[in-house]
Amino acid sequence: MLDDPLKVTSPPPIILGTVQLGRNYGIANRNGVPPETISLDILTAAANAGVEIFDTAPNYGGSEALIGRFLDSWPGKEPRIITKLVSGVIRDAATEKEVYSLIKDSLLGSVKKLRSNRPPELIMQNAADAVDNPRVVDCLLKLKQEGLAGEVGLSVYQERDLEFILDHDGLQLVQAPFNIFDRRLEGYLAELARLGKTVWSRSVFLQGLFFLDPKYLPQAVQPAAPYLEDLRHLSIEIGLSIEKLAFLYARDTQGLDGLVIGVESMDQLERNFELLELPALTLDQRKTIEKEFPAVPEAVYNPILWKTWS
Ligand SMILES: NC(=O)c1ccc[n+]([C@@H]2O[C@H](COP(=O)([O-])OP(=O)(O)OC[C@H]3O[C@@H](n4cnc5c(N)ncnc54)[C@H](OP(=O)(O)O)[C@@H]3O)[C@@H](O)[C@H]2O)c1
Repeated sequence: MLDDPLKVTSPPPIILGTVQLGRNYGIANRNGVPPETISLDILTAAANAGVEIFDTAPNYGGSEALIGRFLDSWPGKEPRIITKLVSGVIRDAATEKEVYSLIKDSLLGSVKKLRSNRPPELIMQNAADAVDNPRVVDCLLKLKQEGLAGEVGLSVYQERDLEFILDHDGLQLVQAPFNIFDRRLEGYLAELARLGKTVWSRSVFLQGLFFLDPKYLPQAVQPAAPYLEDLRHLSIEIGLSIEKLAFLYARDTQGLDGLVIGVESMDQLERNFELLELPALTLDQRKTIEKEFPAVPEAVYNPILWKTWS
């Protein structure tokens, strides 16, 4: 555990997740992908407000190309771009040479669309692809040494992924879920900080699941109903909206270097900047939250098991 979670000096910055700007995404999504003009406005407003990192991937629909069009006309300092090697791309690669060339081809495809002046950060979209095939780490490091990628790392789904990162010096970037229902990352934060890794958390709102009415859940997330009921009661008990509880719980956790948050509208973007400025939760409030959700089942907190992504 890191020290007192309330000793937060400055909150972790928002990293703009952009899957929502490229394809239908999120368990609560009703509106689909915003029109391009709105998406470009969101990227511009985020950059103007000081967001320095955008998160994207080749399988986020038109997200990388959208960022490329944004960068074409953005006069300020270029944001850092995190892109990914899509889960499963290297599944059938037998040799290191094949792994390397599949990753490189994907990266060069991303670079072409992004049209960024500096190499993007590169992470494996699913850490399992590296854990199951350790050649991947050498290939990522080679791409970094060649100046084609910036920093490299993994996007985490399981605790074994975090153990793997701790064992591999060159893996600098960690993107992992962290929210009220899923606090698995917490026990690793001190060690990740000691090793100087960069930790970006995602799923603050669990794809928007936290805002769904537990009585009318899509089939895929039915097991979440009792936990969402409890979250509603907790929000009333503490006197803070679910949005504030979820955001502040992650924001005030020490050891996070950024919060990857996706938005579909300017309104949500502005709300998230407002949330960044709110006072910290008290220690009692944090303890109440943690006591309420000591062990949420994986079927609830792991979006891979919802099988809503293809
Ligand atoms: N493996 C990976 O590398 C991976 C996996 C997943 C995501 N990501 C990245 O992480 C980013 C965030 O995705 P996530 O799954 O973690 O989602 P999230 O940030 O937990 O939730 C985002 C969703 O919450 C809703 N929302 C956002 N701000 C809100 C606010 N202030 N009030 C109410 N609702 C709000 C929006 O959905 P609605 O309006 O539809 O409710 C939005 O689409 C993605 O854009 C992507 O870049 C990476």
